[in-house]
Amino acid sequence: MSADAIQPAAVIVLAAGEGTRMKSATPKILHAIGGRSMVGHAIDAASGLHPHRLAVVVRHERDRVAAHVLEHAPDTAIVDQDDVPGTGRAVEVALEALEDMTHGTVVVTYGDVPLLTTELLAELVSRHAAEGNAATVLTAKVADPTGYGRVLRAQDGSVLRIVEQKDASEEERAVNEINSGIYAFGVAELREALARVGSQNAQGEKYLTDVIGIMRADGDRVSAAVTTDQWQVEGANDRVQLAALGKELNRRIVTGWMREGVTVVDPETTWIDVDVALTRDVTLLPGTYLHGRTAIGEGATVGPDTTLVDTVVGPRATVKRTDATGSRIGAGASVGPFTYLRKDTVLGPEGKIGAFYETKNVTIGARSKLSHLGYAGDAEIGEDTNIGCGNITSNYDGVNKHRTVIGSQVRTGAGTVFIAPVSVGDGAYTGAGAVVRRDVPAGALTITQAPQAINEDWVQRKRPGTPAAVAATLAKQTISDTSSTTENGH
Ligand code: UD1
Ligand code: CA
Repeated sequence: MSADAIQPAAVIVLAAGEGTRMKSATPKILHAIGGRSMVGHAIDAASGLHPHRLAVVVRHERDRVAAHVLEHAPDTAIVDQDDVPGTGRAVEVALEALEDMTHGTVVVTYGDVPLLTTELLAELVSRHAAEGNAATVLTAKVADPTGYGRVLRAQDGSVLRIVEQKDASEEERAVNEINSGIYAFGVAELREALARVGSQNAQGEKYLTDVIGIMRADGDRVSAAVTTDQWQVEGANDRVQLAALGKELNRRIVTGWMREGVTVVDPETTWIDVDVALTRDVTLLPGTYLHGRTAIGEGATVGPDTTLVDTVVGPRATVKRTDATGSRIGAGASVGPFTYLRKDTVLGPEGKIGAFYETKNVTIGARSKLSHLGYAGDAEIGEDTNIGCGNITSNYDGVNKHRTVIGSQVRTGAGTVFIAPVSVGDGAYTGAGAVVRRDVPAGALTITQAPQAINEDWVQRKRPGTPAAVAATLAKQTISDTSSTTENGH
């Protein structure tokens, strides 16, 4: 089969319906699974066929849906369905908008069937071309066909027509081969047949399904391709179905990555969006959620209980019990446990951000360590610097944010507070509890000296009888006993 034979002239995605069962302020097809809207999945599957034209038919929440579609795929033609209801009318208005399209194949799909793949569509289109059909409909044999259109076949197995549930006789309803609503058509035959479709049926709608019977009666070739992968033709009408489809999509994504050499310890609790990029020998521990454009390098270990959004993790890095967004973690670096990386955190190779740290808009050089308990925001830290326990960049003066710049080979004492804007030169030290308000030159030690007061026996006087006072009294006695013994001995 040549590539041309499976390259359709157009794909039409039907997305005018309301989706009331979702019970949502958000239009049904904008609900997402795997980090992508349902209509986004439909458009991506369609785009994979490289059609000359791609049209999406809209009506319900028209502006919102159109804006979303154009953001996802700017070259899409948005087609407005008019007051005439039905899938047949939806395709008809699309063909009117694509009036210059006179021959070739047109594929029809739905905006709410998110697991459909380009591969299955390509199979449908190649079969359509190979058999020289006027119409090829994708069908499935299901245990419970309730609600679907049924595919009626002649004695010889050839397709006669499709009947909707609401128009079907009892005998017809017993048929378990259902119409998926996904088709390949010859453009010319489709235009001609659609013009003859009426709306004398139980729903008073112009049914696209009627063209199958019309073409067959005209002596055109119509055929059905039965898929055994029912998930690919399943639509999401409510949130229960949406969750089931989301789970199945995730299962497929996770399985795909395991086949590419990723270790997933617990596939059930590992969620990976469609746009995430992994590499071989990545290890994902239980409770890992990878969203957006997250990418993870070879040999890195992520999890357990970690959520990464649009975050790049370098090769061999470890990221444990961490929540990170819009961050970059260098090769061999270590993050976590219990660490919160906000937007624009950049950690250099072999660097470390340890337990109970929050960071934001900070660039940290190679091998620098922020090991325990602190906040680093709007800052720049050089290479091989050690930030002591409990350091804080005080970046906010109540009105504006200011930067802290710390050089390379710096050592900061526990509890240092940097009052930004401020800088610390290369190789400088800060003492424990230093409050750094003035710039510290390279190689200097800065300490903040406050007098340390000692009020002798304050506890025994002010808190008499407490366990602390008892302990203090005992300690004092022991000391005086010891000292009197010593005195006596000399
Ligand atoms: C349709 C098929 C049915 C098939 C089922 C598969 C017809 C007449 N029936 O059923 O044989 O088994 O899909 O799910 O085609 N839409 C529009 N404009 C409209 C009506 C629908 O764009 O005027 C879109 C919807 O947004 C949706 C799709 O078409 O994406 C299907 O509509 P829906 O009402 O769910 O399909 P049914 O008519 O129930
Ligand atoms: Ca439906």
